Amino acid sequence: MRAPQNVREDPSGRHLRRRTAATTARSPASTSAGGLPVNFAGEDITPTFAEYRAVLETQVPGLFDFDIITEFGRALLAKAGTILTHVEYAKTTGGRRIAMTHAGVQVATRTAYAPTDWPLRILPFNPDGSPKSAEAVPTDVAGPACFAGDLLARDRMLPRLDAGDIVAVPDTGAYYFSNPFSYNLLPRVPVFGYRAKQEGVEFSVIRRGQSREEILAEAGEPEIAPYRPVQSEGDS
Ligand SMILES: Cc1ncc(COP(=O)(O)O)c(C=O)c1O
Repeated sequence: MRAPQNVREDPSGRHLRRRTAATTARSPASTSAGGLPVNFAGEDITPTFAEYRAVLETQVPGLFDFDIITEFGRALLAKAGTILTHVEYAKTTGGRRIAMTHAGVQVATRTAYAPTDWPLRILPFNPDGSPKSAEAVPTDVAGPACFAGDLLARDRMLPRLDAGDIVAVPDTGAYYFSNPFSYNLLPRVPVFGYRAKQEGVEFSVIRRGQSREEILAEAGEPEIAPYRPVQSEGDS
Protein backbone atom coordinates (compact mmCIF):
# COMPACT_ATOMS: atom_id res chain seq x y z
CA MET A 1 0.00 0.00 0.00
CA ARG A 2 1.35 3.45 -0.86
CA ALA A 3 1.88 5.94 1.94
CA PRO A 4 -0.28 9.07 1.99
CA GLN A 5 1.35 12.25 0.68
CA ASN A 6 2.78 13.73 3.88
CA VAL A 7 3.87 10.36 5.17
CA ARG A 8 7.18 8.74 4.32
CA GLU A 9 7.57 4.98 4.41
CA ASP A 10 10.77 3.91 6.12
CA PRO A 11 12.62 0.67 5.28
CA SER A 12 11.10 -1.13 8.28
CA GLY A 13 7.68 -0.54 6.81
CA ARG A 14 6.60 1.96 9.48
CA HIS A 15 5.19 5.27 8.38
CA LEU A 16 6.96 8.40 9.58
CA ARG A 17 4.73 11.43 9.52
CA ARG A 18 6.55 14.54 8.38
CA ARG A 19 5.32 17.79 9.84
CA THR A 20 3.77 19.96 7.15
CA ALA A 21 1.52 22.97 7.14
CA ALA A 22 -1.34 20.56 6.59
CA THR A 23 -0.44 18.55 9.71
CA THR A 24 -2.34 20.47 12.35
CA ALA A 25 -1.46 18.42 15.44
CA ARG A 26 2.20 17.48 15.97
CA SER A 27 2.22 13.73 15.90
CA PRO A 28 5.00 11.70 17.55
CA ALA A 29 6.58 9.99 14.63
CA SER A 30 10.10 8.90 15.36
CA THR A 31 11.58 7.10 18.35
CA SER A 32 15.23 7.39 19.23
CA ALA A 33 15.20 4.79 22.06
CA GLY A 34 17.87 5.14 24.76
CA GLY A 35 21.59 4.55 24.69
CA LEU A 36 22.91 7.87 25.99
CA PRO A 37 25.82 6.88 28.22
CA VAL A 38 26.45 7.91 31.82
CA ASN A 39 29.63 9.24 33.39
CA PHE A 40 30.19 6.59 36.08
CA ALA A 41 33.60 8.09 36.93
CA GLY A 42 32.44 11.31 38.61
CA GLU A 43 29.65 13.75 39.39
CA ASP A 44 29.69 15.58 36.05
CA ILE A 45 26.82 14.82 33.71
CA THR A 46 28.47 14.01 30.40
CA PRO A 47 27.31 13.93 27.70
CA THR A 48 24.37 16.27 28.34
CA PHE A 49 21.05 16.05 26.51
CA ALA A 50 21.88 19.43 24.93
CA GLU A 51 25.18 18.06 23.56
CA TYR A 52 23.37 15.01 22.18
CA ARG A 53 20.77 17.20 20.52
CA ALA A 54 23.50 19.42 19.04
CA VAL A 55 25.20 16.37 17.45
CA LEU A 56 21.88 15.16 16.01
CA GLU A 57 21.13 18.63 14.64
CA THR A 58 24.45 18.59 12.80
CA GLN A 59 24.49 14.97 11.69
CA VAL A 60 20.78 14.25 11.03
CA PRO A 61 19.03 17.61 10.69
CA GLY A 62 16.11 15.96 8.88
CA LEU A 63 15.19 14.16 12.10
CA PHE A 64 13.84 17.42 13.47
CA ASP A 65 11.16 17.50 10.78
CA PHE A 66 9.44 14.95 13.01
CA ASP A 67 8.26 14.89 16.56
CA ILE A 68 10.64 12.62 18.43
CA ILE A 69 9.89 10.28 21.31
CA THR A 70 12.89 9.23 23.36
CA GLU A 71 13.24 6.29 25.76
CA PHE A 72 16.26 7.37 27.76
CA GLY A 73 16.89 5.10 30.74
CA ARG A 74 20.25 5.34 32.48
CA ALA A 75 20.91 8.93 31.35
CA LEU A 76 17.81 10.01 33.27
CA LEU A 77 17.99 7.70 36.27
CA ALA A 78 21.50 6.45 37.03
CA LYS A 79 22.62 9.53 38.93
CA ALA A 80 19.38 9.62 40.92
CA GLY A 81 20.26 6.50 42.93
CA THR A 82 22.93 5.40 45.40
CA ILE A 83 23.41 2.01 47.06
CA LEU A 84 24.25 2.21 50.76
CA THR A 85 25.64 -0.78 52.63
CA HIS A 86 27.47 -1.53 55.86
CA VAL A 87 30.83 -3.25 55.99
CA GLU A 88 30.00 -6.48 57.83
CA TYR A 89 33.64 -7.30 58.48
CA ALA A 90 37.03 -6.56 56.98
CA LYS A 91 40.30 -8.44 56.78
CA THR A 92 43.67 -8.08 55.10
CA THR A 93 44.76 -11.07 53.07
CA GLY A 94 47.15 -11.52 50.14
CA GLY A 95 48.25 -7.90 50.55
CA ARG A 96 44.72 -6.57 50.01
CA ARG A 97 42.06 -5.20 52.32
CA ILE A 98 38.82 -7.11 51.79
CA ALA A 99 35.66 -5.37 52.97
CA MET A 100 32.66 -7.72 53.10
CA THR A 101 29.42 -5.80 52.53
CA HIS A 102 25.73 -6.58 51.99
CA ALA A 103 25.74 -5.27 48.39
CA GLY A 104 27.04 -7.46 45.63
CA VAL A 105 25.80 -9.46 42.70
CA GLN A 106 22.17 -9.41 43.92
CA VAL A 107 21.95 -5.64 43.38
CA ALA A 108 24.90 -4.91 41.06
CA THR A 109 24.69 -7.82 38.65
CA ARG A 110 26.28 -6.03 35.71
CA THR A 111 29.23 -4.85 37.76
CA ALA A 112 29.86 -8.24 39.37
CA TYR A 113 29.81 -10.10 36.05
CA ALA A 114 31.25 -7.40 33.74
CA PRO A 115 33.38 -5.22 36.02
CA THR A 116 35.37 -3.54 33.28
CA ASP A 117 32.25 -2.61 31.31
CA TRP A 118 30.30 -1.38 34.37
CA PRO A 119 32.77 0.03 36.90
CA LEU A 120 31.29 1.85 39.89
CA ARG A 121 32.73 4.43 42.26
CA ILE A 122 33.04 3.47 45.92
CA LEU A 123 32.61 6.25 48.50
CA PRO A 124 33.67 5.25 52.04
CA PHE A 125 32.13 6.72 55.21
CA ASN A 126 32.59 6.24 58.94
CA PRO A 127 29.78 4.60 60.94
CA ASP A 128 28.49 8.11 61.87
CA GLY A 129 28.19 9.04 58.17
CA SER A 130 31.22 11.34 57.99
CA PRO A 131 33.62 10.77 55.05
CA LYS A 132 36.34 8.26 55.84
CA SER A 133 39.87 9.63 55.60
CA ALA A 134 42.13 6.75 56.70
CA GLU A 135 45.29 5.80 54.82
CA ALA A 136 44.48 4.47 51.33
CA VAL A 137 45.17 0.77 50.80
CA PRO A 138 44.41 -1.63 47.91
CA THR A 139 40.90 -2.92 48.61
CA ASP A 140 38.36 -5.43 47.33
CA VAL A 141 34.77 -4.48 48.14
CA ALA A 142 32.93 -7.80 48.29
CA GLY A 143 29.25 -8.72 48.30
CA PRO A 144 27.38 -11.42 50.22
CA ALA A 145 27.22 -14.17 47.59
CA CYS A 146 29.25 -17.34 47.82
CA PHE A 147 31.67 -16.89 44.93
CA ALA A 148 34.98 -15.05 44.78
CA GLY A 149 33.91 -12.78 41.91
CA ASP A 150 31.11 -11.16 43.90
CA LEU A 151 32.91 -7.80 43.99
CA LEU A 152 31.82 -4.19 43.56
CA ALA A 153 35.47 -3.13 43.26
CA ARG A 154 38.71 -5.06 42.94
CA ASP A 155 42.14 -3.82 44.03
CA ARG A 156 40.87 -0.25 44.40
CA MET A 157 42.86 2.29 46.44
CA LEU A 158 40.43 3.21 49.25
CA PRO A 159 40.76 4.53 52.79
CA ARG A 160 41.19 1.44 54.98
CA LEU A 161 37.69 0.09 55.61
CA ASP A 162 36.64 -1.50 58.92
CA ALA A 163 33.54 -3.32 60.18
CA GLY A 164 30.68 -0.86 60.71
CA ASP A 165 31.83 1.60 58.06
CA ILE A 166 29.36 2.60 55.37
CA VAL A 167 30.03 2.20 51.68
CA ALA A 168 28.07 4.34 49.22
CA VAL A 169 27.91 3.33 45.57
CA PRO A 170 26.65 6.27 43.50
CA ASP A 171 25.13 6.30 40.00
CA THR A 172 23.08 3.17 40.69
CA GLY A 173 19.60 4.56 40.00
CA ALA A 174 19.39 2.61 36.73
CA TYR A 175 20.29 -1.01 35.98
CA TYR A 176 20.90 -1.87 39.64
CA PHE A 177 17.85 -2.29 41.92
CA SER A 178 15.87 -2.79 38.70
CA ASN A 179 17.98 -5.88 37.84
CA PRO A 180 17.65 -7.93 41.03
CA PHE A 181 19.33 -11.31 41.04
CA SER A 182 18.09 -13.89 43.50
CA TYR A 183 21.11 -16.20 43.59
CA ASN A 184 21.68 -17.61 47.10
CA LEU A 185 18.10 -16.46 47.87
CA LEU A 186 19.46 -12.96 48.42
CA PRO A 187 16.44 -10.66 48.77
CA ARG A 188 15.40 -7.76 46.59
CA VAL A 189 16.51 -4.69 48.49
CA PRO A 190 14.25 -1.86 49.65
CA VAL A 191 14.42 1.42 47.76
CA PHE A 192 13.85 4.74 49.52
CA GLY A 193 13.38 8.21 48.14
CA TYR A 194 14.40 11.36 49.92
CA ARG A 195 13.53 15.00 49.67
CA ALA A 196 15.54 17.80 51.27
CA LYS A 197 13.23 20.05 53.25
CA GLN A 198 13.88 23.11 55.38
CA GLU A 199 13.25 21.11 58.54
CA GLY A 200 15.44 18.16 57.45
CA VAL A 201 15.32 15.23 55.07
CA GLU A 202 12.03 13.46 54.37
CA PHE A 203 12.26 9.79 53.38
CA SER A 204 9.66 7.77 51.53
CA VAL A 205 9.37 4.10 50.58
CA ILE A 206 9.58 3.53 46.82
CA ARG A 207 9.85 -0.26 46.92
CA ARG A 208 9.62 -2.47 49.98
CA GLY A 209 12.36 -5.00 50.56
CA GLN A 210 11.45 -8.61 49.93
CA SER A 211 10.03 -10.39 52.97
CA ARG A 212 11.19 -13.82 54.13
CA GLU A 213 7.80 -15.27 53.11
CA GLU A 214 8.17 -13.84 49.59
CA ILE A 215 11.68 -15.21 49.27
CA LEU A 216 10.55 -18.66 50.36
CA ALA A 217 7.54 -18.58 48.02
CA GLU A 218 9.87 -17.83 45.10
CA ALA A 219 12.29 -20.54 46.12
CA GLY A 220 9.85 -23.33 45.33
CA GLU A 221 6.85 -25.31 46.48
CA PRO A 222 6.73 -26.16 50.20
CA GLU A 223 5.99 -29.82 49.30
CA ILE A 224 6.50 -31.92 46.20
CA ALA A 225 3.13 -31.91 44.46
CA PRO A 226 1.89 -33.81 41.38
CA TYR A 227 2.23 -31.81 38.16
CA ARG A 228 -1.07 -30.84 36.55
CA PRO A 229 -0.91 -28.94 33.26
CA VAL A 230 -2.86 -25.69 33.33
CA GLN A 231 -5.98 -25.98 31.20
CA SER A 232 -6.82 -22.96 29.07
CA GLU A 233 -10.40 -21.72 28.84
CA GLY A 234 -12.39 -23.68 26.31
CA ASP A 235 -10.47 -26.94 26.88
CA SER A 236 -12.83 -29.70 27.80
C1 LIG B 1 13.13 -0.80 24.99
C2 LIG B 1 14.12 0.03 25.75
N1 LIG B 1 14.07 1.38 25.61
C3 LIG B 1 14.96 2.14 26.29
C4 LIG B 1 15.92 1.59 27.13
C5 LIG B 1 16.85 2.51 27.87
O1 LIG B 1 18.15 2.43 27.39
P1 LIG B 1 19.33 3.30 28.00
O2 LIG B 1 19.40 2.98 29.46
O3 LIG B 1 20.51 2.86 27.22
O4 LIG B 1 18.99 4.76 27.78
C6 LIG B 1 16.00 0.21 27.29
C7 LIG B 1 17.01 -0.37 28.17
O5 LIG B 1 16.91 -1.41 28.75
C8 LIG B 1 15.07 -0.59 26.58
O6 LIG B 1 15.08 -1.93 26.72
